[in-house]
Amino acid sequence: MNILGIETSCDETAAAVVRDGTHILSNVVSSQVEYHRRYGGVVPEIASRKHVENICRVIEQALAQAGIELNRIQAVAVTAGPGLVGALLVGVSVAKGLAYAQGLPLIPCHHLEGHIYALTAEGGQLPYPAVGLIVSGGHTNLYLIKGHGQYRLLGQTRDDAVGEAFDKVAKMLGLGYPGGPVIDKLAKSGDPGAIIFPRSYLEKDSLDFSLSGIKTAVLYYLKKHQIDPARDTEKVCDIAAGFQQAVVEVLVNKTILAARQQRVKHILLSGGVACNSQLRAQLQLAAKENNFKLYHPSPAMCTDNAAMIGSLGYYRYRQGERADWSLNARSSWPL
Ligand code: KG4
Ligand code: ZN
Repeated sequence: MNILGIETSCDETAAAVVRDGTHILSNVVSSQVEYHRRYGGVVPEIASRKHVENICRVIEQALAQAGIELNRIQAVAVTAGPGLVGALLVGVSVAKGLAYAQGLPLIPCHHLEGHIYALTAEGGQLPYPAVGLIVSGGHTNLYLIKGHGQYRLLGQTRDDAVGEAFDKVAKMLGLGYPGGPVIDKLAKSGDPGAIIFPRSYLEKDSLDFSLSGIKTAVLYYLKKHQIDPARDTEKVCDIAAGFQQAVVEVLVNKTILAARQQRVKHILLSGGVACNSQLRAQLQLAAKENNFKLYHPSPAMCTDNAAMIGSLGYYRYRQGERADWSLNARSSWPL
């Protein structure tokens, strides 16, 4: 079964063709990052307008790269939320139009569930029961994954998302947007023990996160030591390393705690921040020490893409999920 996946929840215009949930025939991602960079983050109005400009071309490319015509697509899966409502509306409207015109089923997909299914898109099996850590620019969530479509939220951020914290700290350090990849890179040249930033664990055994404190701690450090990021490049690397170490430590410890509490054997890591090399390495190490098996998609599949939506769409289709023509975008949508 060939499913066309469409994803426009934030600043990537993406379309993909996925066969039977596990074979990616094409995966086109058109990033808008160059339009948002000068503002230091995603500007929702610009995101919507760029999606409108790009979506038809991106879908055409996805079909061409898959080597199939629209008449060989058997369902359309689209991210209906959560995300920026104007951005989501573009994908949802196009998906509705295509499905209606072609007489195809329309499958609404949850963006965070899509991040979980990046794993199946690449041919893997969904491990369950598992604890899933989904870390992106908008979310920092720990789930118990009980089966296809069965989730329980175990913990979430009480303030900033972890990707947002990376982006904001990068902005303070004059590193541009998005901040995650550049902090990851600079941290490799820094000393993670040179500056100790606070680790926020909240109440004992809590699986919630808080990232606003460390962000403020970085700001105070820069002010107190009168650091000019443009000149103090060595210091910037130490700050990046210290910040990343503190964040990764908390993410890893809470994920391991969640897996122990839930008595599962599997851990799944996904979302844009799951590209972080230190997070991947330290979670892998901790999982091994504690006899858990860690699963994560390849880095390119951890960030926003439509193949994960095409894969999720397949499993949702098999569960009987269909949307009617009243489908609307949902900016917030609990999983
Ligand atoms: O999942 P995603 O592509 O979009 C959302 O759904 O938000 O995640 C984007 C986020 C950004 O905040 C970006 O800075 C972060 O993922 N990110 C990283 C890395 N690569 C991307 N954060 C830390 N380390 C990385 N290597
Ligand atoms: Zn995402």
